[in-house]
Amino acid sequence: MVPRAARSNSVGSNSRAQGAIALRWSAEIKACGSLGSGAADTYTRMARRNPGFVGYHGRARPHRFEATRPAGWNEEVPMNIEGSVALVTGANRGLGKAFAEALIGAGAAKVYAGARDPAAITDPRLTPVSLDVTQSVSVAAAAERCGDATILINNAGILLGRPMLAAGSEQAMRQEMEVNVYGVLAMMRAFAPILARNGGGAIANMLSVVSWFTSPLNATYGASKRAALAVTDAARMELKAQGTQVIGIYAGFVDTDMAAGIDRPKTSPRQVAERTLEGIRAGVDHVLADERAEQVRHDTRFKPEAFAAGLQALWDGRAAGVGR
Ligand SMILES: NC(=O)c1ccc[n+]([C@@H]2O[C@H](COP(=O)([O-])OP(=O)(O)OC[C@H]3O[C@@H](n4cnc5c(N)ncnc54)[C@H](OP(=O)(O)O)[C@@H]3O)[C@@H](O)[C@H]2O)c1
Repeated sequence: MVPRAARSNSVGSNSRAQGAIALRWSAEIKACGSLGSGAADTYTRMARRNPGFVGYHGRARPHRFEATRPAGWNEEVPMNIEGSVALVTGANRGLGKAFAEALIGAGAAKVYAGARDPAAITDPRLTPVSLDVTQSVSVAAAAERCGDATILINNAGILLGRPMLAAGSEQAMRQEMEVNVYGVLAMMRAFAPILARNGGGAIANMLSVVSWFTSPLNATYGASKRAALAVTDAARMELKAQGTQVIGIYAGFVDTDMAAGIDRPKTSPRQVAERTLEGIRAGVDHVLADERAEQVRHDTRFKPEAFAAGLQALWDGRAAGVGR
C-alpha cells in the first residue's frame, strides 16, 4: 500500500483533482444542453468555490448538488483503486456483488468477498471470506485474515421495514440495528487500525436516502439507516487524523433482492458501485449514487415542509391504521 502522502505526485494535489472534477461536471452540463451555458457557468463557479461537493452526478440538475464543504472533509490525496486491497461485506449477491465486481474491474489487486456463506462466492477473481457482521468472533477473524486491506465497503444490510408502532416493530428494529448499525460499527472498529497501518485507505458505508428522512412505511429500517449515518459521520471525524476517508453512500431503490417486491424505478447495482468508486477516487465524503438520492437530498434540505407533508399523505393514504 502506498501511503496517501506518497501518492501525491502520482495523482496531483487534491485541489487540482477537485478542480478537474468541477470542470468535467461543467463540461457534462454544457454537453447536456438542457440548462444552457449560463447554468453551466454558474455551476462551474459554484464548484470552484466549493471543491468539497457532496453530490457527485446529476448532469441535468446541477442545482441539486450540495455546495457545502462538510466538516471532516478529507484534505489528503484521493485514494487509488488500482492496486488496492478491498473487503466488501455481503458480497455474495445484490449490491455487494456489484461492489466486488466493480473493484476488480477498476484494478484492485485483491478483493475479499465477505459472506455469511463463503461457498456462495463463485467468482474466481474474488477471495471468499466467512463473515457475519453481527458476530464479534467472525468480525475478528475477518480482520485477522484481511490485514492487508486498504478499502472497506460496509454493504451488508437487512430490511424488515415495519411502521414504527406496528406489531413486531421493536423486534424488527433490533434486528435491523444489529446488522445495519452495530455490524457497521464493529467492522469499522476492527478495520480502522488495519487501514491506519496500511496508509489510511477508505471506508464506504452503504446508507440510503432514508438516512435523511423517516418513511412511515418502513420506519424501523429508516431508523437504522439514520443511526448508520451518525456512525459514519462520527467515524469520519475520528479517522481524519489517520488519513482514512469515510464515505456515506445514498441511493433510492436499487435493483436487488431487497427491493424485489417494490414496483418503482430502480437503479442498477452497477451504477451505485461505479459512483462509489468515483467518490473514493475523488475524495468526497458523500456519494449520491442515483437521481433519487439527488432529488431527496435537495428536497429534504430546501423544501422540508412539503417533503414532510408528502410523507404524511403517504401514511394517511396507504396505511389503514397503526398496529397493522
Ligand atoms: N436494494 C435497495 O433498494 C437499497 C437501497 C438503498 C440502500 N440499500 C442498502 O444496500 C445494502 C445492500 O443491499 P442489497 O440491496 O444488496 O440487499 P440484498 O440483496 O438483500 O443483500 C443483502 C446482503 O447483505 C448480507 N447480509 C445480511 N445480513 C448479514 C450479516 N449479518 N452479516 C453479513 N452479511 C449479511 C446478505 O447475505 P445473505 O445472502 O447471507 O443473506 C446479502 O449478501 C444494504 O445495506 C441495504 O440496506 C439497498
